[in-house]
Amino acid sequence: MHFKSDESVYEPLCSEDNTQSDFMELVCAHRRLRKITYCLSAALVVLLISNLAFITKLTGAKECRAEPFLTFSPAQEAVEYEVVKFHSGPLNNEPDDIYSGPPSPVVDQAWRDLYEFGAIHVTPDIASKLANNTEKMYDGTESIVGIDVFHQLHCLNMIRKALSPDYYGKEITENKEVHAAHINHCLNSVRQSLQCGADISTVPFNVQQLKFSSHPLLLPTFNVIHTCRNFRKLQEWTRYRWTGELIDEE
Ligand SMILES: *[C@@H]1O[C@H](CO)[C@@H](O)[C@H](O)[C@H]1NC(C)=O
Repeated sequence: MHFKSDESVYEPLCSEDNTQSDFMELVCAHRRLRKITYCLSAALVVLLISNLAFITKLTGAKECRAEPFLTFSPAQEAVEYEVVKFHSGPLNNEPDDIYSGPPSPVVDQAWRDLYEFGAIHVTPDIASKLANNTEKMYDGTESIVGIDVFHQLHCLNMIRKALSPDYYGKEITENKEVHAAHINHCLNSVRQSLQCGADISTVPFNVQQLKFSSHPLLLPTFNVIHTCRNFRKLQEWTRYRWTGELIDEE
């Protein structure tokens, strides 16, 4: 009885040797069990917190991977997105637009207006941030650099002209071999640019009655909306910094 009241006041030490009474053995075993339970609980809590931290980190890392890695371009500041309905043409019963009709001075001018100002001058600070070294302009301070979408459009225009040799043959100043190499470069360049941009807009399939078919056909419909970089905005940004060099005359 006396012992019991003592126990409640002083917690007697549990020693490792076997000199304790059966009762103390029991008390100590219970205490050890409690200690193990506490330790396990604490370990579980730590595990849970570190797991949570790890999961958060993983989720964060995923978000990081989703962030696009952009090679530095001074034109990044001109990038805006907009929804654009594509023009399809006769394959979806639409008339040709200004870029897709038969060759004419009006069509030629429309194409040139897309890209002719695509080479710009940049400050030494911007030039130093570019992935590749680029030459200085004649003034010796600013550097000259192209914005690639305009080069791709120039290339597509080269291919378009090559498809109408009767109309454009006389304006080709390069010799045959160089011209063939130029067209070959352009085809492969446009291919890589398309893969690079990888437009994931969806193309629906619909039953369509075309003018040049006797019965309705299930066909892809191309005059649908896409999310695009605002091309007009990028044109304005580029034209404002134009060096005055013409891409077609490079
Ligand atoms: C342009 O820079 C990239 C990356 O720094 C490099 O791999 C490539 O060889 C460079 N191109 C030229 C033509 O120097």
